[in-house]
Formats: sequence, C-alpha cells, structure tokens
Amino acid sequence: MRFSRNLLASMALILPAIALPASSGQNKLQIAADAVPGESSLFVNYAGKKSPIASKWMKTISATSSGPAGPDDLLFQNLLSAEWIIYSLYQEAVDTFSPSDFTKLGLRNDTYQRIVEIRDNEAGHIRIFQDQISTNSIKPGPCQYEFGFNTSASAFLALQVYIEVSSMVFLTGLSLQAEANISKSALMAIGQVETRHNTWALLDVYNTDPFSGPSDTIYPYANQILDMTNAFIVPGSCPAENPIYPTPRQGLPRIDIIGNGTTARPGSDIKLLFEPLDNQPKFESGKDYYAVFYHGLNTVSVPYNLKHNSVKIPKQFDSEVGIIMVSIADERDAPTEESVLAGPLIILEQPGVLTLKEPYVD
Ligand SMILES: *[C@@H]1O[C@H](CO)[C@@H](O)[C@H](O)[C@H]1NC(C)=O
Ligand SMILES: *[C@@H]1O[C@H](CO)[C@@H](O)[C@H](O)[C@H]1NC(C)=O
Ligand SMILES: *[C@@H]1O[C@H](CO)[C@@H](O)[C@H](O)[C@H]1NC(C)=O
Ligand SMILES: *[C@@H]1O[C@H](CO)[C@@H](O)[C@H](O)[C@H]1NC(C)=O
Repeated sequence: MRFSRNLLASMALILPAIALPASSGQNKLQIAADAVPGESSLFVNYAGKKSPIASKWMKTISATSSGPAGPDDLLFQNLLSAEWIIYSLYQEAVDTFSPSDFTKLGLRNDTYQRIVEIRDNEAGHIRIFQDQISTNSIKPGPCQYEFGFNTSASAFLALQVYIEVSSMVFLTGLSLQAEANISKSALMAIGQVETRHNTWALLDVYNTDPFSGPSDTIYPYANQILDMTNAFIVPGSCPAENPIYPTPRQGLPRIDIIGNGTTARPGSDIKLLFEPLDNQPKFESGKDYYAVFYHGLNTVSVPYNLKHNSVKIPKQFDSEVGIIMVSIADERDAPTEESVLAGPLIILEQPGVLTLKEPYVD
C-alpha cells in the first residue's frame, strides 16, 4: 500500500503541532470541578504537582436517584476502583519525584514530564468512569495505597509498566462484560491510551521493542486481574460505602515465578509459587490440574505438576515480544471462571525486559 502525498503532507502539518512541549503556564491552570475530559488541558498536559481532579470528585459519591442500576454500572464501578489505584500510583510519583530523579538514571530529560502527562490522562479516566455510572448507583472513592516504590524512581518505572500492561489486559477482558455497545467502544478507546503509555515506557525508558506481535493477549476473566491489584490497597482503608472490589470477587491466590535463571521464554520451565501463604490453592490428590497459558488469541493448557510446582511455557508461542498470561485451573483451558484456582500471572516478553513479576507489596 502506498500513502498519498496529500496524506503525508497533512500529517507533517499536524506532527510539529503535537510535538510542542507543555508550556509552563499549564502549571497554573485552575482545578475546576466542571472540567470535562476531552475539553480541558487538565487531563492532557497540565504540569502542576497538585491533582487535576477537583476535591468534589475525590471521594465516594452516593447515588442521587433510585431505580434500577444502569446496564454497565457494575462494570464501571469495578473499573473506577481500579483506576483510583492507577491514578494514585502516578500522582504519588508526581509528588515524590522531580525531573532530575530520572535524568540521574540516564533517562531522557522529558521523562518526568511524560509521567505528569500520564497522571493527567489517568485523572481524566477517573472523571470518565464516574460519569459512566448512572445516578442510581454509587461511584466508589479512593482508598489508601501502598505501592512499595518508596523513593526509588527505577522501582516506580518497573511498577508503571506492570500497571499499564495489567490495565491493557483487564480492559480487553472487561469488554466481554459490557452490555451497551458504546461501553465496548469506550473500553477499547481507553485501552488504547494505556497502550500508548506502555509504548512510551518500552521505547523511552527501556529502549526495547515496543510492539507485541499481531495481537495483544485476551484473558477471559477480567475481574481476576482486577483482584490482583487489591495487593496495592492498604487493608481496611477503603471508604465504607465502596462496593467490594471487584464485584464479584473470587479472592484467588496470586502466582509468582520462583526466579532463578529462568528467562520465562516459550519453551522454558518455570517454577510457581502461590501467595499469600495463608491463601493457597486447594489441590486434591489424584486430580488433574492445568497451567492454562494465554498469548494473543491463543489458549494452551499444559498439565501442572503438583509435585514440582513446575510447568513448561508452551514452545509454540512466538513470543519474542508481547504478553503471556498463566493461571492454574482444574479443567483444561479453564472454561469457567470457577475452574480457575490461582492467578493469573502476567509475563511481559520484551527483549531486555525478562519477566514482569508482580511486585511484592505485602
Ligand atoms: C533535553 O534534551 C534534549 C536532547 O538531548 C536537549 O536538546 C534539550 O536542551 C534538553 N532540555 C533541557 C531542558 O535540558
Ligand atoms: C525507603 O527509602 C529510604 C530513603 O532512601 C530508606 O532509608 C528506607 O530504608 C526505604 N524503605 C524501604 C522499606 O525500602
Ligand atoms: C449493539 O449493536 C448491534 C449492531 O448494530 C445491535 O444489533 C444491538 O442491538 C446493539 N446492542 C445494544 C445493547 O444496543
Ligand atoms: C540459583 O541457581 C544457581 C545456579 O544454577 C545455584 O547455584 C543457586 O543455588 C540457585 N539459587 C537458589 C536460591 O535456588
């Protein structure tokens, strides 16, 4: 296929315009409660440390009418609770760091500015999801979070990739739950923004291949991915009115790889560990269990060896790049949510970035 000269000319006109850095005047924007994503630079390139979200929206918002919940209220309540975690991660980074924390690591001098912009986008997601929940339903508010990066800029950056990759996969999965067509499209539109954030990190921070092959990975049970992010919530810190996150919640054990020399590439053996210790999968002796691997649109089940806690990542996956997910199930290919006993674990295959393990936070 060839691009027309006119198309290239019009792109050339647009690109310099969007490459302009945020002006310093964007620090002083007023944090307006009626700012709307798509119509306000607060959610684009506002450069202040202070949150772009007005205090009116920084809390649980009760239903203001009664009647049946909107068809996708539950989905957007779950997503809003997840977004509070993601937004808060970035806001904490914006509060904690300054540009020199990143240039000291040898990174580009616009790294902090990008993190601020991503914070702005995530604040916009908060407002979008709040508005997608009907007035008949409660809009969950923020809890307290413990991300564990402390003051380490590199630990934050690793967590940032983990969070963006997780959000890409749970948004893809949540579209399976959406009732309204417009909700499906909205989830896709938001997922693409998370992908842009991740692409930026893979290129500018990790200097690796930013692509993921022909398709990102579909994992069918999005609430299980959301549930994993409960690890970042300080226990008991959520507003009492918030619904259980996520609803419904299975509370499955998390999976980690016991990493000693494994590259977690297709064809390699990985040894699994379930966390926390007081929430272990209930295996019955004599029964068959499977490690179910997801990559792109493919699902491959491998017998799970209970004695060694080990499995081989399917050799047939193409993965030089992209996401592999794995859960442990008591049925081949985990045909139902209930058949999953632990996980999922997300592995990001990218040259130079070996495994993206869930950070220990408890
Ligand atoms: C940032 O880095 C670029 C490219 O190395 C350089 O041209 C620019 O002057 C730097 N900006 C600042 C504010 O240091
Ligand atoms: C957090 O960082 C401070 C300062 O670098 C350090 O003294 C402290 O031990 C760190 N705490 C943890 C839990 O890593
Ligand atoms: C979604 O779109 C399809 C195709 O236009 C239509 O048949 C269906 O009724 C729509 N669903 C809803 C819930 O509006
Ligand atoms: C990791 O592997 C190396 C080399 O194979 C071995 O010497 C070491 O004991 C292993 N460490 C653990 C904690 O298993």
